Amino acid sequence: MIKKISIIGLGYVGSSLAAAIASSNKNQNKIIYCIENSNSYGNSIIKKFNKGKFPFESADKELVIKFKRAIKKNNNFRAFTDLNKIKESDIVVISVGFEINHKKFEKNLKNILFLIKKVSYLINPECLIFLQTTLPPGTTEQKIIPLIKKIFKKRQINKNPNIAYSYERAMPGKDYLNSVSNFWRVYSSSNLYAGNLCEKFLKTFINTNKFPSTKLKDITSCETAKVLENTYRAVNIALVDEWTKFSQKLNLNLYDIIEAIRVRPTHNNLRYPGLGVGGYCLTKDPTFAEVSAKSIFKLKDLKFPMSNLAININSKMPSFSFNWIEKITKNFKNKKTLLFGLSYKNDVGDLRFSPSIKLAKYLKKNKFKLNFFDPHVSQKELKTVKKISKYDSLVNYKIFIFSVNHSTFIKNKIIKKIPKNSLLIDLVNFFEKKKYISEFKKKNITYRALGK
Ligand SMILES: NC(=O)c1ccc[n+]([C@@H]2O[C@H](COP(=O)([O-])OP(=O)(O)OC[C@H]3O[C@@H](n4cnc5c(N)ncnc54)[C@H](O)[C@@H]3O)[C@@H](O)[C@H]2O)c1
Repeated sequence: MIKKISIIGLGYVGSSLAAAIASSNKNQNKIIYCIENSNSYGNSIIKKFNKGKFPFESADKELVIKFKRAIKKNNNFRAFTDLNKIKESDIVVISVGFEINHKKFEKNLKNILFLIKKVSYLINPECLIFLQTTLPPGTTEQKIIPLIKKIFKKRQINKNPNIAYSYERAMPGKDYLNSVSNFWRVYSSSNLYAGNLCEKFLKTFINTNKFPSTKLKDITSCETAKVLENTYRAVNIALVDEWTKFSQKLNLNLYDIIEAIRVRPTHNNLRYPGLGVGGYCLTKDPTFAEVSAKSIFKLKDLKFPMSNLAININSKMPSFSFNWIEKITKNFKNKKTLLFGLSYKNDVGDLRFSPSIKLAKYLKKNKFKLNFFDPHVSQKELKTVKKISKYDSLVNYKIFIFSVNHSTFIKNKIIKKIPKNSLLIDLVNFFEKKKYISEFKKKNITYRALGK
């Protein structure tokens, strides 16, 4: 029976998982302890968490309400900075980040292995370690499990550890909680017992009748599935880049072209043009297979040109957009510019690797008098650019750039408040409907859209 669950790492993924677990009817009487780093960042998360405040800005009202209710209802749903609190857990979830920022893979592994070591000393031998951090394929079986076995041996535990790997597909935004509870999972385990316990655990917070989980034969396959899944998306996004440039030159409407192609069921997820890729996952995960081949499996000849190219192309999209903006604003003497959207995607406040931030930096460096408008981002997160919150202030600008498709931006209000004779640059098809174009014409607003 699962009586106690611990979650280590309360970032975007760990916190939403905690919310999904704690708000599920099947987990009402369980102890759910959540652990963060004992530093100022970790402490700030814990403080919000224990007050019933979801630690990140979220457009998902259901998540915010259910999270608050769960903290209120269950005295045993709490967050700490003391790792010892995981003792006596039946399941310990690892949801910390993993990045490749050193040349030596062993150096990158240092943090997660240090944590695993500490966890291995604290847990009961039967406890299931449930990993959901995205890792280079092979990390769990080749590095993590041998370490746990070593610690178990030191503790004179004569038994194989129970390990499961199941990656998260959380999509922060308006449907954040649903993307955890009503979505398919992929998992794998180190042994049958661990697999069964993992499946049982997933059932406590996922509607697995409607969204059945897929079990893969081993953990390396499961890690590979996550990395391939995200690489596929990054490549798909990168592919559209050259077609965007082609369409700009030939004055084609790439949105209409893609819509026509998307009718084919085999092609219905072809990406649209955009400002590039941001966030914590697509910017790093496509590098993980090469790291795995080179550093874990010593397959030095195996290259991943497509994955690397995708990362490279996606990272250059903001500079392409900036060059285009610079060209079309050349004759503007008044460069008072308002940038709509700073976060890396719609309906979130997450700024990690945001292409809009990159664009903002290019604009500032090139003497655009820049302010931003983003209800999901506070002024203290980008001190160098002033935040504007009132639609009435729009009258003060000449150039408007839309770089994120937040559903909180009120289109009609924007159209009403944008002054006559201004320039509106749409990088994300924010004004997707043709009716807006005639509104712009009425006010002599020049509308230029990337890929249209
Ligand atoms: N962000 C997403 O949308 C998303 C989606 C699917 C998968 N993932 C993957 O999930 C993992 C977590 O992503 P995230 O966005 O939540 O990252 P994050 O950086 O927001 O969160 C990780 C948290 O772990 C904490 N942490 C690190 N080491 C710790 C330790 N030793 N003890 C306690 N806490 C510790 C950090 O302080 C941080 O708050 C990553 O591997 C990521 O690639 C992310």
